[in-house]
Amino acid sequence: MKGIILAGGRGSRLYPTTLAVSKQLLPVGDKPMIYYPLSVLMLAGITDILIISTPDDLQQFQRLLGDGSQLGLNLGYALQPEPRGLAEAFVIGADHIGGDNVTLVLGDNIFHGQHFYDVLRANLTDLRGCVLFGYGVTDPGRYGVGETDDAGKLVSIEEKPRKPRSNRAITGLYSCDADVVDIAKNLRPSARGELEITDVIRAYMLRGQARVVDLGRGFAWLDTGTPASLLQASLYVRTLEERQGVRIACVEEVALRMGFIDAQSCYDLGRRLGASEYGKYVMDIAQELG
Ligand code: DAU
Repeated sequence: MKGIILAGGRGSRLYPTTLAVSKQLLPVGDKPMIYYPLSVLMLAGITDILIISTPDDLQQFQRLLGDGSQLGLNLGYALQPEPRGLAEAFVIGADHIGGDNVTLVLGDNIFHGQHFYDVLRANLTDLRGCVLFGYGVTDPGRYGVGETDDAGKLVSIEEKPRKPRSNRAITGLYSCDADVVDIAKNLRPSARGELEITDVIRAYMLRGQARVVDLGRGFAWLDTGTPASLLQASLYVRTLEERQGVRIACVEEVALRMGFIDAQSCYDLGRRLGASEYGKYVMDIAQELG
């Protein structure tokens, strides 16, 4: 299974903050936003990951994460010159996918919940068609909205519908088999000029091959699109981290727990982060698990 993080776009709802900095590099709690989707892919056991961003921002991601080898990952980078739609990630990433299954995660989606590792493992092995993750929200009209039958098979999908048929938003985490590249290459831009992810999903749905896994009420799926929601996401992370003394989306810890790196390498990564609380946490975890 390959991974893709789509971390482009303009972030215009966060202007002026995002005029000079990529949205997905802004801090959520005490770490850059992209650590959250990256840790989701890592938890799914994915180590071969392509990061897609804009010509202005791509270098900053490279500066932050390098080739990924320090985390036991193989990170590649690719440009999306214009935000021409989420489904374009599968076209840009065609060589990277190379006939494998792939999981795309949006760089601004934050997931948190117990046993996420088990949920991912249970649903991404022996993947045929596509698997989506649904989440009940009070304002479904802001998202892709899916309806399923009793078995979890998708029966309708709409992008930001005026009259949503269900309250189930389709989150920004999409696992697909290798057919996704051909499906995406054959899409036509929508009325708003984008290659729509919902059109990819609809193609799988028409084949009877789109399944939705509901993330239950114990899960958090957080928005980061506006100043208010970004602040809320930070407060959520901070509240849990302070209360429990554990960190959410600490990529060094995830790499260690997943067996991608050993305790000594993890400790060294923490030491490099100097005097920050985050760095101390990484060193502590390395000693605890070492
Ligand atoms: O967050 C989940 C939702 O994400 C889904 O429920 C929707 O079906 C899906 O269309 C998407 O909706 P958004 O309104 O959040 O899409 P947005 O255009 O804001 O793009 C999501 C992120 O992807 C954003 O951080 C910018 C980035 N992006 C977007 C486009 C269109 C790119 O990197 N490249 C692009 O071409």
